[in-house]
Amino acid sequence: MRKKIVAGNWKMNKTLQEGVALATELKNILAAEKPNCEVIIGTPFIHLATLSELLKDSVIAVSAENCANKESGAYTGEVSAAMVKSTGAEYVILGHSERREYYHETPEILKDKVDLALANGLKVIFCIGESLAEREANQQEAVCKAELEGSVFHLSAEQWKNIVIAYEPIWAIGTGKTATAEQAEEIHAYIRKCVADVYGAQAADETSILYGGSCKASNAPELFGKPDIDGGLIGGASLKAPDFKGIIDAWK
Ligand code: PGA
Repeated sequence: MRKKIVAGNWKMNKTLQEGVALATELKNILAAEKPNCEVIIGTPFIHLATLSELLKDSVIAVSAENCANKESGAYTGEVSAAMVKSTGAEYVILGHSERREYYHETPEILKDKVDLALANGLKVIFCIGESLAEREANQQEAVCKAELEGSVFHLSAEQWKNIVIAYEPIWAIGTGKTATAEQAEEIHAYIRKCVADVYGAQAADETSILYGGSCKASNAPELFGKPDIDGGLIGGASLKAPDFKGIIDAWK
């Protein structure tokens, strides 16, 4: 059975001290009441080592939000996959639409990042999703397929086991506008079919596909109730422990 996952994406929020406070609060809440899903928090690089240590005996796994597309060397300001791994982090989020749009991360750059992340023992939460204009032109399937083909469908079946997909329609991120559960299910089922075409039905069945975009405690139960939605990648609602816990509880 594939994993159910609720993953936070803090984006560029929280100082080190604020991040430690939030992670500690979450750790205590989840120690008192065990979650029915895997819980991950994606944080800026500066939090990774401290939180990996703080959360090492907890149910919460730590993820980076990015890593470099080069192995090591003269790349001022960059953080390599090996460095991320050395902090104790287990995951890295790659392909987020904010990185594609604001930092010009192309499918080729993302392919290199995915390869380096996997080579260094990280699991990858790979984000895909269409813009509003693409949705209005009914291009969402073509966009998602192209993003998969561009950066992850070259992986071996063995490597694929370390990939989680996050479908995040750009028009729903941080806008308060969620895809309906039906809209999300339709494309999740399509994404799973694309995975099956490349890796076979069993691998597709074992792939976790998360929904992201204004997911909150109030809409999570309906979204997670759909057969092909295996959890969420949560931005805004991951910044407060009770809000994030409310989404984790959707799996109860
Ligand atoms: P949001 O962000 O939950 O704030 O819409 C989701 C994401 O970008 O991962």
